[in-house]
Amino acid sequence: MNDRFLKALQGKNEGRPPVWIMRQAGRYLPDFLALRQRFSFLEMCHSPELAAFTTQLPVAQLGFDAAILFSDILVVPEALGVGLQFEKDKGPIIERPLQKDSDVWQLPEVDVGESLGFVFETIRLLKKQLKVPLIGFCGAPFTLASYMIEGGSSADLKKTKRWLLKEPASFHALLQKITTVTKEYLKMQVQAGVDAIQIFDSWAQHLAHDQFRECSLAYLKELVECVKDTPVILFCRGSSLFATQLAEARPAGISIDWNANMADVRKKIPSTITLQGNLDPDILLASDQVVVQEVKRLLDRMRGDPRYIFNLGHGIKPDTPVDHVKLLVDTVKNYA
Ligand code: CP3
Repeated sequence: MNDRFLKALQGKNEGRPPVWIMRQAGRYLPDFLALRQRFSFLEMCHSPELAAFTTQLPVAQLGFDAAILFSDILVVPEALGVGLQFEKDKGPIIERPLQKDSDVWQLPEVDVGESLGFVFETIRLLKKQLKVPLIGFCGAPFTLASYMIEGGSSADLKKTKRWLLKEPASFHALLQKITTVTKEYLKMQVQAGVDAIQIFDSWAQHLAHDQFRECSLAYLKELVECVKDTPVILFCRGSSLFATQLAEARPAGISIDWNANMADVRKKIPSTITLQGNLDPDILLASDQVVVQEVKRLLDRMRGDPRYIFNLGHGIKPDTPVDHVKLLVDTVKNYA
Protein backbone atom coordinates (compact mmCIF):
# COMPACT_ATOMS: atom_id res chain seq x y z
CA MET A 1 0.00 0.00 0.00
CA ASN A 2 1.34 3.43 -1.01
CA ASP A 3 0.79 5.45 2.18
CA ARG A 4 2.63 8.66 1.28
CA PHE A 5 -0.66 10.62 1.29
CA LEU A 6 -1.64 9.39 4.77
CA LYS A 7 1.89 10.02 6.07
CA ALA A 8 1.65 13.65 4.92
CA LEU A 9 -1.64 13.96 6.81
CA GLN A 10 0.18 12.70 9.94
CA GLY A 11 3.13 15.04 9.43
CA LYS A 12 5.49 12.15 8.70
CA ASN A 13 6.14 12.31 4.98
CA GLU A 14 9.74 12.22 3.77
CA GLY A 15 11.09 13.16 0.34
CA ARG A 16 8.78 14.32 -2.46
CA PRO A 17 5.18 15.19 -1.52
CA PRO A 18 2.21 12.96 -2.39
CA VAL A 19 0.12 14.11 -5.35
CA TRP A 20 -3.56 13.87 -6.32
CA ILE A 21 -5.81 16.46 -7.93
CA MET A 22 -9.32 17.66 -7.26
CA ARG A 23 -11.80 16.27 -9.80
CA GLN A 24 -9.17 13.83 -11.06
CA ALA A 25 -11.85 11.29 -12.00
CA GLY A 26 -13.63 13.79 -14.19
CA ARG A 27 -14.31 15.06 -17.64
CA TYR A 28 -10.76 15.50 -18.98
CA LEU A 29 -10.31 11.70 -19.08
CA PRO A 30 -11.02 10.12 -22.51
CA ASP A 31 -12.11 6.81 -20.94
CA PHE A 32 -14.59 8.64 -18.73
CA LEU A 33 -15.99 10.51 -21.73
CA ALA A 34 -16.36 7.24 -23.60
CA LEU A 35 -18.39 5.78 -20.72
CA ARG A 36 -20.54 8.91 -20.68
CA GLN A 37 -21.62 8.13 -24.25
CA ARG A 38 -23.35 5.05 -22.85
CA PHE A 39 -24.46 6.14 -19.36
CA SER A 40 -25.68 9.36 -17.78
CA PHE A 41 -23.56 10.90 -15.02
CA LEU A 42 -26.11 9.95 -12.35
CA GLU A 43 -26.35 6.38 -13.67
CA MET A 44 -22.59 6.20 -13.23
CA CYS A 45 -22.80 7.55 -9.66
CA HIS A 46 -25.59 5.12 -8.76
CA SER A 47 -23.80 2.06 -10.15
CA PRO A 48 -21.12 0.79 -7.72
CA GLU A 49 -19.32 -1.08 -10.53
CA LEU A 50 -19.11 1.98 -12.83
CA ALA A 51 -18.28 4.35 -9.97
CA ALA A 52 -15.52 2.07 -8.67
CA PHE A 53 -14.09 1.61 -12.17
CA THR A 54 -14.03 5.39 -12.75
CA THR A 55 -12.45 6.06 -9.34
CA GLN A 56 -9.44 3.89 -10.12
CA LEU A 57 -9.00 5.10 -13.74
CA PRO A 58 -6.82 8.18 -13.04
CA VAL A 59 -4.78 6.28 -10.46
CA ALA A 60 -4.04 3.43 -12.89
CA GLN A 61 -3.43 5.69 -15.90
CA LEU A 62 -1.64 8.66 -14.36
CA GLY A 63 -0.13 7.36 -11.11
CA PHE A 64 -1.75 9.51 -8.41
CA ASP A 65 -0.90 8.72 -4.75
CA ALA A 66 -4.56 8.76 -3.67
CA ALA A 67 -7.96 7.97 -5.21
CA ILE A 68 -11.07 10.10 -4.70
CA LEU A 69 -14.41 8.37 -4.78
CA PHE A 70 -16.36 8.93 -8.00
CA SER A 71 -19.64 10.46 -6.87
CA ASP A 72 -21.03 13.97 -6.38
CA ILE A 73 -21.70 16.27 -3.44
CA LEU A 74 -25.32 16.56 -4.65
CA VAL A 75 -26.28 12.97 -3.81
CA VAL A 76 -27.07 14.26 -0.30
CA PRO A 77 -29.70 16.81 -1.49
CA GLU A 78 -30.98 14.03 -3.76
CA ALA A 79 -31.43 11.83 -0.67
CA LEU A 80 -33.26 14.76 0.99
CA GLY A 81 -35.87 14.48 -1.75
CA VAL A 82 -35.43 17.76 -3.68
CA GLY A 83 -34.83 15.97 -7.01
CA LEU A 84 -31.57 16.05 -8.96
CA GLN A 85 -30.77 16.10 -12.67
CA PHE A 86 -27.70 16.95 -14.69
CA GLU A 87 -28.44 18.69 -17.96
CA LYS A 88 -25.92 18.83 -20.75
CA ASP A 89 -23.83 22.02 -20.56
CA LYS A 90 -26.05 23.40 -17.80
CA GLY A 91 -24.65 21.57 -14.80
CA PRO A 92 -26.77 20.36 -11.91
CA ILE A 93 -30.49 21.14 -11.59
CA ILE A 94 -32.41 20.79 -8.33
CA GLU A 95 -35.95 20.00 -9.45
CA ARG A 96 -37.80 21.34 -6.41
CA PRO A 97 -35.73 24.13 -4.87
CA LEU A 98 -36.62 25.34 -1.37
CA GLN A 99 -38.56 28.60 -1.43
CA LYS A 100 -39.96 29.21 2.04
CA ASP A 101 -39.52 28.31 5.70
CA SER A 102 -42.11 25.53 5.59
CA ASP A 103 -40.14 23.78 2.80
CA VAL A 104 -37.35 23.34 5.35
CA TRP A 105 -39.63 21.99 8.08
CA GLN A 106 -41.07 19.51 5.57
CA LEU A 107 -37.77 17.91 4.56
CA PRO A 108 -38.04 14.17 5.22
CA GLU A 109 -36.15 11.93 7.63
CA VAL A 110 -33.43 10.15 5.65
CA ASP A 111 -32.36 6.54 6.03
CA VAL A 112 -28.77 7.14 4.96
CA GLY A 113 -27.81 3.45 4.81
CA GLU A 114 -30.62 2.83 2.36
CA SER A 115 -30.76 5.96 0.21
CA LEU A 116 -26.99 6.30 -0.16
CA GLY A 117 -26.19 2.59 -0.01
CA PHE A 118 -24.73 2.68 -3.54
CA VAL A 119 -21.89 4.91 -2.25
CA PHE A 120 -20.96 2.51 0.54
CA GLU A 121 -21.06 -0.41 -1.89
CA THR A 122 -18.70 1.48 -4.24
CA ILE A 123 -16.29 2.03 -1.33
CA ARG A 124 -16.36 -1.65 -0.39
CA LEU A 125 -15.61 -2.68 -3.98
CA LEU A 126 -12.71 -0.20 -4.18
CA LYS A 127 -11.13 -1.30 -0.93
CA LYS A 128 -10.63 -4.76 -2.43
CA GLN A 129 -8.63 -3.47 -5.39
CA LEU A 130 -6.94 -0.12 -4.63
CA LYS A 131 -3.25 0.11 -3.73
CA VAL A 132 -3.49 3.77 -2.71
CA PRO A 133 -5.62 5.40 0.02
CA LEU A 134 -9.25 6.19 -0.80
CA ILE A 135 -10.62 9.68 -0.11
CA GLY A 136 -14.34 9.88 0.63
CA PHE A 137 -16.05 13.26 0.43
CA CYS A 138 -19.12 15.38 0.93
CA GLY A 139 -20.32 18.91 0.30
CA ALA A 140 -20.27 21.37 3.18
CA PRO A 141 -23.73 22.19 4.58
CA PHE A 142 -23.52 25.80 3.34
CA THR A 143 -22.69 24.79 -0.25
CA LEU A 144 -25.40 22.11 -0.30
CA ALA A 145 -27.95 24.56 1.15
CA SER A 146 -27.08 27.01 -1.62
CA TYR A 147 -27.80 24.38 -4.31
CA MET A 148 -31.09 23.47 -2.62
CA ILE A 149 -32.17 27.14 -2.58
CA GLU A 150 -30.77 28.37 -5.91
CA GLY A 151 -31.86 25.25 -7.81
CA GLY A 152 -28.42 24.88 -9.39
CA SER A 153 -25.08 26.65 -9.64
CA SER A 154 -25.37 30.41 -9.21
CA ALA A 155 -22.92 33.22 -9.87
CA ASP A 156 -23.92 35.36 -6.90
CA LEU A 157 -25.97 33.18 -4.48
CA LYS A 158 -28.51 35.98 -4.32
CA LYS A 159 -31.44 33.88 -3.07
CA THR A 160 -29.27 32.06 -0.55
CA LYS A 161 -27.82 35.23 0.94
CA ARG A 162 -31.18 36.93 1.02
CA TRP A 163 -32.58 33.94 2.93
CA LEU A 164 -29.71 33.80 5.39
CA LEU A 165 -30.00 37.53 6.12
CA LYS A 166 -33.79 37.69 6.28
CA GLU A 167 -34.74 34.38 7.85
CA PRO A 168 -31.69 33.19 9.83
CA ALA A 169 -33.72 30.76 11.99
CA SER A 170 -34.96 28.63 9.09
CA PHE A 171 -31.62 29.00 7.28
CA HIS A 172 -29.79 27.54 10.28
CA ALA A 173 -32.44 24.83 10.62
CA LEU A 174 -31.65 23.86 7.02
CA LEU A 175 -27.89 23.83 7.70
CA GLN A 176 -28.50 21.69 10.80
CA LYS A 177 -30.70 19.26 8.88
CA ILE A 178 -28.03 18.82 6.19
CA THR A 179 -25.36 18.46 8.87
CA THR A 180 -27.28 15.71 10.66
CA VAL A 181 -27.65 13.67 7.46
CA THR A 182 -24.05 14.37 6.40
CA LYS A 183 -22.64 13.21 9.76
CA GLU A 184 -24.34 9.88 9.30
CA TYR A 185 -23.15 9.78 5.67
CA LEU A 186 -19.50 10.40 6.65
CA LYS A 187 -19.58 7.87 9.48
CA MET A 188 -20.90 5.25 7.05
CA GLN A 189 -18.23 6.11 4.46
CA VAL A 190 -15.64 5.51 7.18
CA GLN A 191 -17.26 2.21 8.21
CA ALA A 192 -17.23 1.12 4.56
CA GLY A 193 -13.48 1.82 4.40
CA VAL A 194 -12.45 5.33 3.26
CA ASP A 195 -9.02 6.35 4.58
CA ALA A 196 -9.62 10.11 4.61
CA ILE A 197 -12.42 12.59 3.95
CA GLN A 198 -12.43 15.86 2.02
CA ILE A 199 -15.21 18.38 2.59
CA PHE A 200 -15.95 20.81 -0.27
CA ASP A 201 -17.38 24.23 0.59
CA SER A 202 -17.26 25.39 -3.01
CA TRP A 203 -19.41 28.51 -2.59
CA ALA A 204 -18.10 29.83 0.74
CA GLN A 205 -16.26 32.68 -0.95
CA HIS A 206 -19.56 34.55 -1.11
CA LEU A 207 -19.67 34.83 2.68
CA ALA A 208 -18.46 37.79 4.73
CA HIS A 209 -16.10 37.08 7.64
CA ASP A 210 -18.76 36.62 10.35
CA GLN A 211 -21.18 34.87 8.00
CA PHE A 212 -18.44 32.37 7.22
CA ARG A 213 -17.95 31.69 10.92
CA GLU A 214 -21.68 31.24 11.59
CA CYS A 215 -22.92 29.55 8.41
CA SER A 216 -19.92 27.53 7.32
CA LEU A 217 -17.30 26.98 10.02
CA ALA A 218 -19.72 26.08 12.84
CA TYR A 219 -21.07 23.16 10.81
CA LEU A 220 -17.69 22.11 9.40
CA LYS A 221 -16.54 21.73 13.02
CA GLU A 222 -19.38 19.30 13.71
CA LEU A 223 -18.43 17.25 10.66
CA VAL A 224 -14.71 17.13 11.53
CA GLU A 225 -15.54 16.02 15.06
CA CYS A 226 -17.95 13.27 14.05
CA VAL A 227 -15.23 11.25 12.31
CA LYS A 228 -12.40 12.06 14.70
CA ASP A 229 -10.24 8.98 13.96
CA THR A 230 -10.23 9.64 10.22
CA PRO A 231 -8.24 12.56 8.76
CA VAL A 232 -10.41 15.31 7.29
CA ILE A 233 -9.26 17.88 4.72
CA LEU A 234 -11.28 21.08 4.44
CA PHE A 235 -11.49 22.88 1.10
CA CYS A 236 -13.37 26.02 0.24
CA ARG A 237 -13.10 28.52 -2.54
CA GLY A 238 -11.70 31.37 -0.51
CA SER A 239 -9.62 29.06 1.67
CA SER A 240 -6.53 31.26 1.36
CA LEU A 241 -8.58 34.00 3.03
CA PHE A 242 -10.42 31.76 5.52
CA ALA A 243 -7.47 29.44 6.34
CA THR A 244 -6.93 30.64 9.91
CA GLN A 245 -10.64 30.24 10.65
CA LEU A 246 -10.67 26.77 9.05
CA ALA A 247 -7.75 25.81 11.31
CA GLU A 248 -10.01 26.39 14.33
CA ALA A 249 -12.04 23.33 13.28
CA ARG A 250 -8.82 21.27 13.83
CA PRO A 251 -8.91 19.36 10.54
CA ALA A 252 -5.96 17.13 9.59
CA GLY A 253 -5.54 19.28 6.48
CA ILE A 254 -6.63 22.42 4.67
CA SER A 255 -6.70 22.66 0.88
CA ILE A 256 -5.65 26.13 -0.28
CA ASP A 257 -6.98 27.94 -3.35
CA TRP A 258 -4.51 29.36 -5.87
CA ASN A 259 -4.71 32.98 -4.79
CA ALA A 260 -2.26 32.61 -1.92
CA ASN A 261 1.47 32.03 -1.69
CA MET A 262 1.58 28.63 0.05
CA ALA A 263 4.73 29.44 1.99
CA ASP A 264 2.99 32.49 3.50
CA VAL A 265 -0.07 30.42 4.43
CA ARG A 266 2.24 27.86 6.07
CA LYS A 267 3.53 30.52 8.46
CA LYS A 268 -0.01 31.35 9.64
CA ILE A 269 -1.29 27.80 10.12
CA PRO A 270 -0.36 25.57 13.09
CA SER A 271 2.36 23.06 12.23
CA THR A 272 -0.04 20.26 13.30
CA ILE A 273 -2.18 20.89 10.19
CA THR A 274 -1.25 19.63 6.71
CA LEU A 275 -1.56 21.98 3.75
CA GLN A 276 -2.72 20.86 0.32
CA GLY A 277 -2.74 22.75 -2.98
CA ASN A 278 -2.50 25.15 -4.70
CA LEU A 279 -1.51 25.22 -8.39
CA ASP A 280 -3.76 27.38 -10.58
CA PRO A 281 -5.74 24.82 -12.70
CA ASP A 282 -5.29 27.06 -15.77
CA ILE A 283 -1.56 26.34 -15.73
CA LEU A 284 -2.40 22.88 -17.09
CA LEU A 285 -3.77 24.59 -20.20
CA ALA A 286 -0.38 26.21 -20.94
CA SER A 287 2.71 24.74 -22.66
CA ASP A 288 4.68 21.74 -21.35
CA GLN A 289 7.46 24.08 -20.36
CA VAL A 290 5.18 26.31 -18.27
CA VAL A 291 3.59 23.28 -16.58
CA VAL A 292 6.99 21.96 -15.48
CA GLN A 293 8.26 25.37 -14.43
CA GLU A 294 5.18 26.21 -12.30
CA VAL A 295 4.97 22.75 -10.71
CA LYS A 296 8.65 23.03 -9.73
CA ARG A 297 8.17 26.55 -8.40
CA LEU A 298 5.49 25.29 -6.02
CA LEU A 299 7.56 22.22 -5.06
CA ASP A 300 10.52 24.47 -4.25
CA ARG A 301 8.32 26.68 -2.13
CA MET A 302 7.14 23.74 0.00
CA ARG A 303 10.41 21.78 -0.11
CA GLY A 304 11.03 19.42 2.83
CA ASP A 305 7.63 20.09 4.44
CA PRO A 306 6.46 16.74 5.93
CA ARG A 307 2.90 18.09 5.99
CA TYR A 308 2.41 19.08 2.36
CA ILE A 309 0.23 17.44 -0.34
CA PHE A 310 0.59 18.57 -3.96
CA ASN A 311 -2.77 19.45 -5.55
CA LEU A 312 -4.49 22.12 -7.61
CA GLY A 313 -6.11 25.19 -6.04
CA HIS A 314 -9.52 24.01 -7.37
CA GLY A 315 -10.86 21.27 -9.65
CA ILE A 316 -9.21 20.41 -12.95
CA LYS A 317 -10.90 21.97 -15.99
CA PRO A 318 -12.68 19.68 -18.48
CA ASP A 319 -10.55 20.74 -21.48
CA THR A 320 -7.21 19.99 -19.81
CA PRO A 321 -4.85 17.83 -21.92
CA VAL A 322 -4.26 14.48 -20.20
CA ASP A 323 -0.58 14.70 -21.20
CA HIS A 324 -0.21 17.78 -19.02
CA VAL A 325 -1.69 15.98 -16.04
CA LYS A 326 0.79 13.15 -16.58
CA LEU A 327 3.58 15.72 -16.81
CA LEU A 328 2.45 17.27 -13.51
CA VAL A 329 2.41 13.89 -11.74
CA ASP A 330 5.79 12.86 -13.18
CA THR A 331 7.38 16.19 -12.26
CA VAL A 332 6.24 15.80 -8.64
CA LYS A 333 7.33 12.15 -8.49
CA ASN A 334 10.79 12.86 -9.92
CA TYR A 335 11.39 15.81 -7.62
CA ALA A 336 14.34 15.14 -5.35
O1 CP3 B 1 -12.44 13.47 -9.11
C1 CP3 B 1 -13.65 13.48 -9.26
O2 CP3 B 1 -14.23 13.89 -10.29
C2 CP3 B 1 -14.41 12.89 -8.12
C3 CP3 B 1 -15.81 13.05 -8.11
C4 CP3 B 1 -16.43 14.42 -7.95
C5 CP3 B 1 -17.40 14.92 -8.86
N1 CP3 B 1 -17.94 16.05 -8.32
C6 CP3 B 1 -17.78 14.29 -10.12
C7 CP3 B 1 -18.48 15.06 -11.17
C8 CP3 B 1 -16.31 15.34 -6.91
C9 CP3 B 1 -15.35 15.34 -5.74
C10 CP3 B 1 -17.29 16.36 -7.14
C11 CP3 B 1 -17.53 17.48 -6.22
C12 CP3 B 1 -18.46 18.55 -6.61
N2 CP3 B 1 -19.61 18.46 -7.33
C13 CP3 B 1 -18.33 19.89 -6.17
C14 CP3 B 1 -17.26 20.40 -5.25
C15 CP3 B 1 -15.94 20.55 -5.92
C16 CP3 B 1 -15.71 21.80 -6.65
O3 CP3 B 1 -15.28 21.68 -7.83
O4 CP3 B 1 -15.91 22.89 -6.11
C17 CP3 B 1 -19.40 20.62 -6.72
C18 CP3 B 1 -19.65 22.10 -6.55
C19 CP3 B 1 -20.21 19.69 -7.45
C20 CP3 B 1 -21.49 19.98 -8.17
C21 CP3 B 1 -21.37 19.68 -9.61
N3 CP3 B 1 -21.33 18.40 -10.18
C22 CP3 B 1 -21.27 20.60 -10.69
C23 CP3 B 1 -21.25 22.11 -10.53
C24 CP3 B 1 -21.18 19.86 -11.87
C25 CP3 B 1 -21.17 20.38 -13.32
C26 CP3 B 1 -19.91 20.97 -13.70
C27 CP3 B 1 -18.69 20.09 -13.48
O5 CP3 B 1 -17.91 20.45 -12.60
O6 CP3 B 1 -18.52 19.09 -14.17
C28 CP3 B 1 -21.15 18.50 -11.52
C29 CP3 B 1 -21.02 17.38 -12.46
C30 CP3 B 1 -19.92 16.41 -12.21
N4 CP3 B 1 -19.48 15.98 -11.00
C31 CP3 B 1 -19.19 15.74 -13.24
C32 CP3 B 1 -18.29 14.88 -12.58
C33 CP3 B 1 -17.33 13.92 -13.20
C34 CP3 B 1 -19.40 15.88 -14.75
C35 CP3 B 1 -20.63 15.17 -15.14
C36 CP3 B 1 -20.77 15.00 -16.62
O7 CP3 B 1 -20.07 14.17 -17.18
O8 CP3 B 1 -21.61 15.69 -17.21
